[in-house]
Amino acid sequence: MKKEFIGKLENFPKYRATAINALGKDIVVYRTDKKIHTFLNICSHEHFPLEDGEYDDNTVTCSHHGAKYDLATGKVLALPATSPIQIFKNKIEGGDVYLLIEDPK
Ligand code: FES
Repeated sequence: MKKEFIGKLENFPKYRATAINALGKDIVVYRTDKKIHTFLNICSHEHFPLEDGEYDDNTVTCSHHGAKYDLATGKVLALPATSPIQIFKNKIEGGDVYLLIEDPK
């Protein structure tokens, strides 16, 4: 598994969605008390960004039409979306945050 540095932990304030570009993709970094969620900044419904959604510890609700997703799995919890969002694994190491990238099989 490879890792891609995306920033210092202190650059991601708690309970605020931060939009970044990494791996050539638009990604949201959302930090809670316990963990960091990293996922594609595109709602699967009509492809609006998710960075301005409503968040709690485990979910994001798209501000455009209300689709809700599980931040751990990407699964849809509320319509109108029917497809999951892409989640990226991440790791915090010595105050640095990395995306983890699966090696191609
Ligand atoms: S674009 Fe997100 S719910 Fe429609």
